[in-house]
Amino acid sequence: MEPTKYKVVDQEVIKQLQERFGADNVWMEEAVLREYGSDQTEDLVFPPAVVLKPRSTEEVSQMMKFAHEAGVPVVAVGARTGLSGGILNVHSGIALSMERLNRIVAIDEQNLQITVQPGVVTQVLQEAVAAKGLFYPVDPSSRGSCFIGGNVAENAGGARAVKYGVTKDYVLNLEVVLADGSVIWTGANTLKNATGYNLTQLLVGSEGTLGIVTQIVLRLLPAHSHEVLMLVPFYKMEQAAEAVAAIFRAGVVPSAVEFMEREALDWTLNYIGEDIGQLPEGIQAQLLIEVDGNYPDVLFAEAEKIAEVVGAFEIDDILFADSEDQKNALWKLRRNVAEAVKSQSIYKEEDTVVPRFELPTLLKGIKAIGAKYGFRSICYGHAGDGNLHVNILKENLTDAQWQQAVPQGIREIFELTVALKGTLSGEHGIGYVQKNYMDIAFSAVELELMKGIKRVFDPKGILNPGKIFPDASGH
Ligand code: LAC
Ligand code: ZN
Repeated sequence: MEPTKYKVVDQEVIKQLQERFGADNVWMEEAVLREYGSDQTEDLVFPPAVVLKPRSTEEVSQMMKFAHEAGVPVVAVGARTGLSGGILNVHSGIALSMERLNRIVAIDEQNLQITVQPGVVTQVLQEAVAAKGLFYPVDPSSRGSCFIGGNVAENAGGARAVKYGVTKDYVLNLEVVLADGSVIWTGANTLKNATGYNLTQLLVGSEGTLGIVTQIVLRLLPAHSHEVLMLVPFYKMEQAAEAVAAIFRAGVVPSAVEFMEREALDWTLNYIGEDIGQLPEGIQAQLLIEVDGNYPDVLFAEAEKIAEVVGAFEIDDILFADSEDQKNALWKLRRNVAEAVKSQSIYKEEDTVVPRFELPTLLKGIKAIGAKYGFRSICYGHAGDGNLHVNILKENLTDAQWQQAVPQGIREIFELTVALKGTLSGEHGIGYVQKNYMDIAFSAVELELMKGIKRVFDPKGILNPGKIFPDASGH
């Protein structure tokens, strides 16, 4: 589908970019190119040939028009916190950084909506609406640095998805610059919309392969006033996973149910230098569980119900976080797991997701597959969503094992995931590192349908090439 040859960004292309967009808008220093050619995915670096930093939708449109006519690949770049290599510039084209498009355009307090540009940091957005008594619940661990545009591109989830849903559930309407520079709106600023194909949801999670998002309209909720947070230590990892579905069956919908294997917690405590007391000997995993709402009595009753459910399993004392400080410390801990694991060893991270009740089977299967192929994995994630981040550590594996046995093992993990009626990625996207496993989740017919959509949006294949679809030489 992709053209085999793209226009190389040579001196002539650079000269034209500088003339059209100003020399101060065109970056080419080696260090800058490396920076914009890597995210948080393993240690991968694919530098672009040039970085552009548009200041308006109009400028994005002009830049796309130029790239389209010239046939130069373009990768939209956000805060580079991605975990599937979505921004890696594999064909050395233009990196279109959205960092200057960082304005909150409007907060509509009457309709509970916000309109933002893509370069707004997610936490900045959350705090801006909180100041008006409103709530944007999507809460990725990287919220302090990630951009809302990246959240839309990857359909980010995070800890609160189990009750509130993921990014797609909040996006009402998008302003998008198409591959040829045309500017469109995908929908309307309404909660319901049965008008034609749903272009909005087609763009959400399309990882920069269909268009460049330049404005986002999100729906908001009224803020709630209280949360109860508890940390439950389990002696058996699988029981922690089993307890998750049992909580919902007991009639409680927590706002978060996060799973952490013991090592994930230990390493993170060490990494951030936090002290929550000694973890009891023999604990294999923890669940961090939150309920939220406006009525403390109801929340305490729900927390009690949860304590009753988890009490049927082999657990140690539950830690109830009763001060804001303690709650913040626990959430800080959870948010830092990814970085802590990364600091431990070279690793590959998978983002498996299954229907919630299948979580224990998935976890057991992952450990068995690791034993078979000789690798160790540390798992953590959004257990309430059945979404498990599987971190496979290189540690003492040889390069040959890392390059051959491990991908084979990952393939088996994905096959198990799909057999359990789950899929490859819950919230990190396919990007660069998962694309050669797509055949496990989709038939040739299904992949062809997706490629057809790609061709309609991007006939020259210049938008984020080399992502999502398996390599021709792949499986
Ligand atoms: C998390 C990121 C890695 O759950 O998705 O912390
Ligand atoms: Zn996550």
